[in-house]
Amino acid sequence: MENEKFYITTPIYYPSDKLHIGHTYCTVATDAMARYKRLQGCDVMFLTGTDEHGQKIEDKAREAGVTPKEFVDNIVEGPKGVKDLWKLMNISNDRFIRTTDGYHVSAVQKIFKKMHDNGDIYKGTYKGKYCKPCESFWTESQLVDGKCPDCGREVQDAEEEAYFFRLSKYADRVRDLLENTDFLQPRSRVNEMVKNFIDPGLEDLCVSRTSFTWGIPVDFDPGHVVYVWVDALFNYTTALGFLNEQYGDYAKYWPADVHFVGKEIVRFHSIIWPAMLMSMDMPLPKHVFGHGWLLLDGGKMSKSKGNVVDPYILAEKFGVDALRFFLMRTFPFGSDGNFSNELLIQTINTDLANDLGNLVSRTTAMVGKYFGGALPAGCGAIDDERFLADAAAQGSSVELSAVNPADPSLYDAQLVAMAGGLRGVYASAMDAFAPHTALSEVFKLIQRANKYIDETAPWTLAKDMEANGARLAHVLYNLLEASRICGILLSPFMPESMEKLFVQIGAGPEVQTWDSAAKWGLLPETTTVTKGENLFPRIDMDKALEELEALEAEARKAALPPIELEPQLTESVDFDTFCKSDFRVVKVKACEAVKKSEKLLKFTLDDGTGTDRQILSGIHKFYEPETLVGKTLVAIVNLPPRKMMGQMSCGMLLSAVHTEHGEEKLNLIMLDDAIPAGAKLC
Ligand code: ME8
Ligand code: MG
Repeated sequence: MENEKFYITTPIYYPSDKLHIGHTYCTVATDAMARYKRLQGCDVMFLTGTDEHGQKIEDKAREAGVTPKEFVDNIVEGPKGVKDLWKLMNISNDRFIRTTDGYHVSAVQKIFKKMHDNGDIYKGTYKGKYCKPCESFWTESQLVDGKCPDCGREVQDAEEEAYFFRLSKYADRVRDLLENTDFLQPRSRVNEMVKNFIDPGLEDLCVSRTSFTWGIPVDFDPGHVVYVWVDALFNYTTALGFLNEQYGDYAKYWPADVHFVGKEIVRFHSIIWPAMLMSMDMPLPKHVFGHGWLLLDGGKMSKSKGNVVDPYILAEKFGVDALRFFLMRTFPFGSDGNFSNELLIQTINTDLANDLGNLVSRTTAMVGKYFGGALPAGCGAIDDERFLADAAAQGSSVELSAVNPADPSLYDAQLVAMAGGLRGVYASAMDAFAPHTALSEVFKLIQRANKYIDETAPWTLAKDMEANGARLAHVLYNLLEASRICGILLSPFMPESMEKLFVQIGAGPEVQTWDSAAKWGLLPETTTVTKGENLFPRIDMDKALEELEALEAEARKAALPPIELEPQLTESVDFDTFCKSDFRVVKVKACEAVKKSEKLLKFTLDDGTGTDRQILSGIHKFYEPETLVGKTLVAIVNLPPRKMMGQMSCGMLLSAVHTEHGEEKLNLIMLDDAIPAGAKLC
């Protein structure tokens, strides 16, 4: 494994909207995998980036009144953009590609030319259906109920002169790749691809467009731009320096070890991508893994449905590591999963606060309380023959050396054997792209260690230190060791928190390595242990849910237009009719809420006639009555009197209304107090 290369990618994201928790899911999974491989000593290349061309982005930019480049720059590099999000989530990508980068653009032109020169790209007429949001071409037979088979939305007729890629030519080789190798995982996706796309017959693929310009120009045929998926897929190679001078490690890292992708883009990665690589005579990636979707209320998250979850809100509220952990621990990587705030909080409380947090805080607290923060020398020694037998039976590579005849506990043997075997099962799960399984194995040891505390009852041992001091020290040492091993294996998922854990249990860098995760007894016995801050504080579910709801409502509100106005009337009113309305300046002598009404305020007004005028107005939501006394307002005074809630209202007060972030706003028209009551407005 040492120095073995490992190249892993995420999809490159469409910067057409801000990213949501579903996007975060795939990138966190890739990051955990990359960190795991680095921990093993591999030479890792982790690539992510953005896929910036296509009609959807051209349209969005036009709507926003900016150029497409300005539009994507803002979402990629701007505040709370793609790069900010990956920084926040502690994503350790080695490289970031933008498909608008010059080196990528010219490399894609060379790639397109090469496939044209070898006869795999030819000119024809495109007739078919196009799904704009997905940027996907479909033939009639591929549509589901006449709609896009991916997203279910309406498709449009399209016909134009276009270039085609001879996908049909590669049908047999692609089928063989899917059916007879482990290229595409999980296996269930193979059946989907073969049944839906290969069996019905692969048709040649339209790979250029002339109806819009925001794409990579076909340099030998002006007016055509390269189909966005051809442009996007080759990012995995241009970002290493393929056909460009920007980078120089194509030979070192290609082919990729694995592309992590969402299930809806498996077709592009497992059929079109290998076929194009075959045409280019390039090696194929070793694996494509199609993960599932995070669902919200049973449906896919999407901006257009308004049901996206903001990773910024969740990370701020619960911490980046807790969020990363939740995503990987809860949902089996190959399947869909239902996201909910309840589930997130429950996972944090059960696994992190309760199981892991308690193990570490109880252990460090007891080392402090009973031994002043450092255990005595010799406390780590273990002897029992059963350890070896048990450890071997569980496939453990645990090494047992020194002898401690006073300590024949079976509990110890079980704990040590389980810890020793953990690295192996963890690695098998990670290598099979099953991070959720790897995590559940780690948590089995954490739970076993917590049970060990109950079994050995250190507080009872502590009652007679003379008789049981050595045993107590040994028990606590075992708990520190179990915590250390779990800390190493959890570090790819929660890098920052595990650093804190290592500090608390006094584990230096030399005992945080991959090698040291399979060896028991490496933590120096007399190391200084510190009970630090709680790694994962318990969350009050009801309170947190309420706060989240408020934050999400606020975010939804902020997404609404800042100011909305009533449209102006186009129908004209004749001047004489207008002049019949008698608007007068009035002064508020008294104002109070109408009993039993939530809305109504009762105004007593001086209208200059010498007799008080009473007007009722439904504006309590906007004003407290006492604040209005003495104000100079405008009223229309010749409306017929109306009875409301048993009170007469003679006229109406004038106000200005508009909508702000979806919320109704109202301002009474207030005049200079120097104007006398009764003055006529005209
Ligand atoms: O598809 N749950 O970009 P994209 C899980 N540009 N994963 C989700 C998700 C959810 N709710 N929503 C989105 C593209 N994703 C192309 C890729 S690669 C050469 C080009 C995942 O921004 C989705 O499945 O629409 C996909 O893998 C990734 O986010 C990027 O989606
Ligand atoms: Mg998509």
